[in-house]
Amino acid sequence: MILVTGSAGFIGANFVLDWCAQYDESVINLDKLTYAGNLESLASLKDNPRHIFVQGDIGDAKRVARLLAEHQPRAVINFAAESHVDRSIHGPEEFIQTNVVGTFHLLEAVRAYWGGLPDAEKSAFRFLHVSTDEVYGSLAKDEPAFTETHRYEPNSPYSASKAASDHLVRAYHHTYGLPVLTTNCSNNYGPYHFPEKLIPLLIVNALAGKPLPVYGDGQQIRDWLYVKDHCSAIRCVLEKGRVGEVYNVGGWNEKANLDIVHIVCGLLDELRPQAEGKSYAEQITFVTDRPGHDRRYAIDARKIERELGWKPAETFETGIRKTVQWYLDNQSWVNNVLSGDYRQWLEKNYSERA
Ligand code: NAD
Ligand code: DAU
Repeated sequence: MILVTGSAGFIGANFVLDWCAQYDESVINLDKLTYAGNLESLASLKDNPRHIFVQGDIGDAKRVARLLAEHQPRAVINFAAESHVDRSIHGPEEFIQTNVVGTFHLLEAVRAYWGGLPDAEKSAFRFLHVSTDEVYGSLAKDEPAFTETHRYEPNSPYSASKAASDHLVRAYHHTYGLPVLTTNCSNNYGPYHFPEKLIPLLIVNALAGKPLPVYGDGQQIRDWLYVKDHCSAIRCVLEKGRVGEVYNVGGWNEKANLDIVHIVCGLLDELRPQAEGKSYAEQITFVTDRPGHDRRYAIDARKIERELGWKPAETFETGIRKTVQWYLDNQSWVNNVLSGDYRQWLEKNYSERA
């Protein structure tokens, strides 16, 4: 059995769905169900006896200790985090609480549990920490992509909190010998992505006839990876990764934000055409930039390919088409997440942008 945290969120839900489809091994799913947690994403597992959902906080060390003692997992995979950069700018405290303090309490509970395991189980145990390329900071146009040894230069409260958690995970290996693995991945996209993030926000706003907000000049570059490829990379690192190592995960898909907007609009024009040949691109609206906006991320994913044989299965073209189609086919999932809370967030984030 494995314990997965944060798996009612975007990537965690995709990970658990894929895991349960491919393996017989059970999953305990620990999630606090913040605004970003959505049990509807896991609805297909409702009657699956191999998926146990527990609502709880990774920062509740006693609760985590009880879960570990009761279920005796062979691995813990930590997705739980506050994950949205813009929210971290408006309110950083929750990011420090979950991403730093929460990860610390989780590590403490795991260390105590791991310390009490018999030798064979102790050496087979893994703690896999899911992190981000944002910890490396921002690249200039012609700089080489981030490798695992790139220095940490986080620029937002979100990335600083993730960087702190990465350092704690590293320290628990170095000091206590906890068998950890860390993955630093680039921007994900795909099914079940909460529509506060760029790609799902574009799809949802376009279909609703609303503005498509582009921060600044739209020339910031992100390196996009289809979420199911991120999940396969995590499974690969869990199975074959060398203890104490860091693996960068990316899709070699650098794209400027404005290009992403045009690609999404083009697909919607094709798959859900509007009257009189009108393009969704007419809804593009340039708005005030994100403070401290990182200009470019790019992941050098050669280590995970060379050492573990992992490569993404999707190209950007195949992945983005599947994604747009998924949102068109799953309007009820979208409508259910567009709650009052979400509308308040939109007001807070976009009303003050010129
Ligand atoms: P998300 O915001 O969609 O989901 C986060 C989940 O964690 C939610 O279900 C939420 O309820 C849960 N959670 C939050 N605080 C918690 C706590 N204290 N205890 C237990 N559960 C809690 O995030 P995501 O996009 O799925 O990202 C998952 C992980 O992957 C994060 O650690 C993030 O930093 C990392 N990551 C994300 C991306 C990306 O592009 N989305 C890329 C690289 C790495
Ligand atoms: O790089 C990995 C990171 O990718 C993850 O660690 C984060 O959890 C995840 O949220 C994501 O961070 P970004 O800030 O890159 O993603 P977001 O979707 O918020 O924004 C992508 C780009 O689009 C970024 O340059 C900001 C821009 N943007 C975003 C929004 C929401 C816009 O231009 N307009 C918008 O309305």
